[in-house]
Amino acid sequence: MAKEIFLSKNRLIDYLSTTSKEKIQNLFFEANELCNKIYGNKVFFRGIIEFSNICNKNCLYCGLRKDLEIERYQMTKEDILKCAEFCYKKGYGSLVLQSGEFETEKRIEFLSDVVSSIKKKFNLGMTLSLGELSKDSLKELFKSGAHRYLIRIETSNEELYNKIHPKDHSFKNRINTLENLKSIGYQVGTGVMIGLPFQTIENLADDIIFFKNLDVDMLGMGPYVKNPQTPLFIEKPILANPFELALKMVALCRVYLKDVNIAATTALQTFDKKGREKALLCGANILMPIVTPTNLRKNYLIYPDKPCIEDTKEKCFNCISARLKSINKEIGYNKLGDSFHFFERKKKYD
Ligand code: 5AD
Ligand code: SF4
Repeated sequence: MAKEIFLSKNRLIDYLSTTSKEKIQNLFFEANELCNKIYGNKVFFRGIIEFSNICNKNCLYCGLRKDLEIERYQMTKEDILKCAEFCYKKGYGSLVLQSGEFETEKRIEFLSDVVSSIKKKFNLGMTLSLGELSKDSLKELFKSGAHRYLIRIETSNEELYNKIHPKDHSFKNRINTLENLKSIGYQVGTGVMIGLPFQTIENLADDIIFFKNLDVDMLGMGPYVKNPQTPLFIEKPILANPFELALKMVALCRVYLKDVNIAATTALQTFDKKGREKALLCGANILMPIVTPTNLRKNYLIYPDKPCIEDTKEKCFNCISARLKSINKEIGYNKLGDSFHFFERKKKYD
């Protein structure tokens, strides 16, 4: 049994900087023990449906940015429902509807209809990941049946945020969106990219403290992948080994934030074939198998070498099941797998 770890900002920096194998192993062991204690040995699934790559934003690192001439798509309600049915039949328990950021009245109406139909037909847990929408739109989607929302802060350092986004993108608006989500009643998830150009170890330690202060319920973090199609490509990151840093971030967030849901993100697998399994062994408890139809996956290339783009949803299910077996973790079939932190947070304010 590893010794219980207590964290302060200096300790966070110390763990993020260490090259001591023993220290890293102890941290990972403690994070996994804690995760098992809180969530059991179970991993909860969220089938992710990347239903549209249309985006009005121009984030300097992303392969879906508006200025890129890629084939844009928007799935029909019928096709989205087919994917939702697959999640239901496979016992995934929850799904994520993800797209670029694009807000019109018509689109929110369309999405509300999709959300309420999925709720009515399959009663699945539903997470949205649609970017910075207005409070009214977020409220409408919540009323329709979505109860979780993911929006990464990308970095909690405003100066760094401004360096990786064009001038018309607003850090304050992103914080506002996170606050709005909380006040509406969503389970709220955020996260950062790890190994960004200009990013320092201190920035990452501050990110963890930011998550704690914001009292988030869910986290999704992944290594930054250099994308030659994007303007940020010319800037070389300062930090080496973003993959190991990402695992350390997962473990430190588990130890520091305790009862939040933490995803083993797909980007981890770009750096290491067993990237997601490794994250599930150092604090992560959520997996997001891709459910997007295979013919559309090549157009949802946020970063190059994204795993699973040639695969079918069936193959993703089989592959992920085998991966979990290999690390002796169980699948939380038909479970919502809600963040325990959310219920604790609600108790504080009720
Ligand atoms: N590398 C890794 N993650 C990226 N994202 C966007 N571009 C990249 C990249 N080049 C992540 C962002 C965004 C999510 C949809 O994808 O964190 O929030
Ligand atoms: Fe659009 Fe999201 Fe990519 Fe930014 S990160 S360009 S908002 S899809």
